[in-house]
Amino acid sequence: MLYYFIFAIVGLVSFSGAQTLINDSCESHVDKLSTCAGTISFSGDCYSSKIELRDTEYVKCTDVNFFWSYPLNNMTLVIETPFTQKRQRFTVSLETQPLQGAVSHVYRIIDDQETDVTTREPILTQDSDANYQVILKFQGPTRLSRYGVVIQYESTVKA
Ligand SMILES: *[C@@H]1O[C@H](CO)[C@@H](O)[C@H](O)[C@H]1NC(C)=O
Ligand SMILES: *[C@@H]1O[C@H](CO)[C@@H](O)[C@H](O)[C@H]1NC(C)=O
Repeated sequence: MLYYFIFAIVGLVSFSGAQTLINDSCESHVDKLSTCAGTISFSGDCYSSKIELRDTEYVKCTDVNFFWSYPLNNMTLVIETPFTQKRQRFTVSLETQPLQGAVSHVYRIIDDQETDVTTREPILTQDSDANYQVILKFQGPTRLSRYGVVIQYESTVKA
């Protein structure tokens, strides 16, 4: 009898552990559309998701086109470019028009500090940080309102 009881406790604990995991899970996917284009999507409950381009083919691209599928909540994009590996300073120019209606704010993150860099200008430009990255956080809606949003940027080396 006692054994059954212990078994039940262990089962319950691991079950609730699994539930927590499921709730916290935020699995990211980047599906390649062409050399420098892809679809970003997430499975699980994502309140704050992150995509690091470091280990992807997209670091070889200067012109990148992403489709963020079913944008919800916050998505942080850690941009690296062909200039990152060469340790050359660069500028990212992001198209803001395609974000409208789905992304209410864009934040720049440097040293874990975020700054609201939302602009009504057609292009948002951001210079690389000390790690030769540009980290941008996109704030999407809290309820699904668009099935997707285009995140398109170009990177140019700084003279
Ligand atoms: C999942 O986590 C969020 C935030 O931590 C919480 O608000 C929500 O109620 C949780 N959902 C379930 C089904 O436990
Ligand atoms: C998204 O980030 C903004 C700015 O940091 C914050 O105010 C907001 O609560 C975040 N949204 C979610 C769903 O975490």
